[in-house]
Amino acid sequence: MGIFFLIFANSASHVIRNTFRAQSDEYFHVHARNFISKQWHIRNFSLHLFKVVAVNCSSQVASKEITMPDTITIVDNRTGKKFELPITHDTIKAIDLRQIKVKDDDFGMMTYDPAFMNTASCISRITYIDGDKGILRYRGYPIEQIAESAQSFLEVAYLVLKGELPNAKQLEVWRNKIKMHTLVHENVKTLMEGFRYDAHPMGIFISTVAALSTFYPEAKKVRDAANREAQIIRLIGKVPTIAAFAYRHSKGMPYVYPDNDLTYAGNFLKMMFKAGESPYKVNPVLEHALTILFILHADHEQNCSTSAMRVIGSSECDPYSATAGAAAALWGPLHGGANEAVIHMLDEIADIKNVPGFVKEVKEGKGKLMGFGHRVYKNYDPRAKVIKKMAYDVFEVTGRNPKLDIALELERIALEDEYFVKRKLYPNVDFYSGLIYQAMGFPLDFFPVLFAIPRTVGWLAQWQELLDDSEQKISRPRQVFLGPDARNWVPTIDRK
Ligand code: ACO
Repeated sequence: MGIFFLIFANSASHVIRNTFRAQSDEYFHVHARNFISKQWHIRNFSLHLFKVVAVNCSSQVASKEITMPDTITIVDNRTGKKFELPITHDTIKAIDLRQIKVKDDDFGMMTYDPAFMNTASCISRITYIDGDKGILRYRGYPIEQIAESAQSFLEVAYLVLKGELPNAKQLEVWRNKIKMHTLVHENVKTLMEGFRYDAHPMGIFISTVAALSTFYPEAKKVRDAANREAQIIRLIGKVPTIAAFAYRHSKGMPYVYPDNDLTYAGNFLKMMFKAGESPYKVNPVLEHALTILFILHADHEQNCSTSAMRVIGSSECDPYSATAGAAAALWGPLHGGANEAVIHMLDEIADIKNVPGFVKEVKEGKGKLMGFGHRVYKNYDPRAKVIKKMAYDVFEVTGRNPKLDIALELERIALEDEYFVKRKLYPNVDFYSGLIYQAMGFPLDFFPVLFAIPRTVGWLAQWQELLDDSEQKISRPRQVFLGPDARNWVPTIDRK
């Protein structure tokens, strides 16, 4: 079967090559490679149940004059029946498999994809990632260019949410709208005061964001676009205030109210760190660094927390509840909690001389190298590159974080080590961000909150896209049930 298929795939690429002689060689190679790897994947799938007898794929390669059907033909070896399924954007619709059954009253074929390793759950136009090449773009703009050129976080928030860069007037209006909504209701403050002095700031953040739904009950009208926009603006305006209040609460310090003359990041720094009555002067290097960190974390397509946002939002609940759920998903150490875990790991290593021993233990399966690896990036995370470079600017102001040397040595060894090279494990966004946050004076348990502030923009953009997508419905995956068959209830007295 494997041999058959490879021959088929190769001959198909030969056909494509001849057919599309007009295309450049490079263009041909890229698409032929994609084509073959995709068919190879389908082949593996087919070993158990199907024989894929023909794939007529042309969507990316074909010029307008040439028409080949974009379909895949599947033979169910259990019945010998053939099915021709359409291919759109290199995908087949999982629901199209439902027609494949042995008996008429069978439920029909499903795909089994734990952790959504190979399932596109939506069509999106917000963020593009090419994990193999280490590419990240918001609305088409490369992240490196955005980090280099954006004047403010709110400019990027506008781009992510609305799809285009704002002109000067639009930006001004947008900024003013957000600034009008930075204050929270005094009862929100009272609510926050109810938390224990040592409550985790992320727990406070999640709960308070959820509680906002009780202050704005009209938010549940999610089909009303104007209403939706009002809640989006409120949330973006208020999350830094809630985050800073959560921090001040844990320190027993009085809350500092927003200063709308400052930038998004500058105001946040002031609400966090202003002490006493003396004026707080925002350090421009730290303000810039935080702006960049916010920009880099604004969106990352269908990651764990964003998928949570979409799944929760699909029930048409209000955006405060959905955002709280997304933030909860972000909290875990495998996602937004990883930067905190990186600092704990560097503390555990303690000295540069212990790095080789630590790496050896990771390779023996005694733990993970936190801040390394990614479900999508199989190359250096482009955000990590920007952050690593920026760390030096921050350390000029704050003093060098002594853990940097351990981190650099870890990275050096890991990038040369066969274990990590083979598995394509590279530093991700969390590997260096924690070092910067710590140097800036943020406590470790506050790191996930720092992630949640900018990611609120991405969650809301994805939520909005979901609600505007006529193909979407309430999220409701299927399962493969392998539990017990029907059986009769046994009274307690008769149980063994
Ligand atoms: N250290 C050591 N080995 C690792 C690491 C790591 N950080 N990450 C993956 N591996 C190994 C796995 O053990 C596995 O090895 P195997 O093939 O011998 O079994 C192989 O690499 C593939 O790993 P998976 O767990 O299958 O990769 P997955 O895509 O499921 O996980 C994840 C991605 C969760 C990010 C993982 O790499 C990880 O736990 N990294 C550390 C935590 C981290 O930094 N998370 C932040 C991610 S970025 C973000 O969310 C903002």
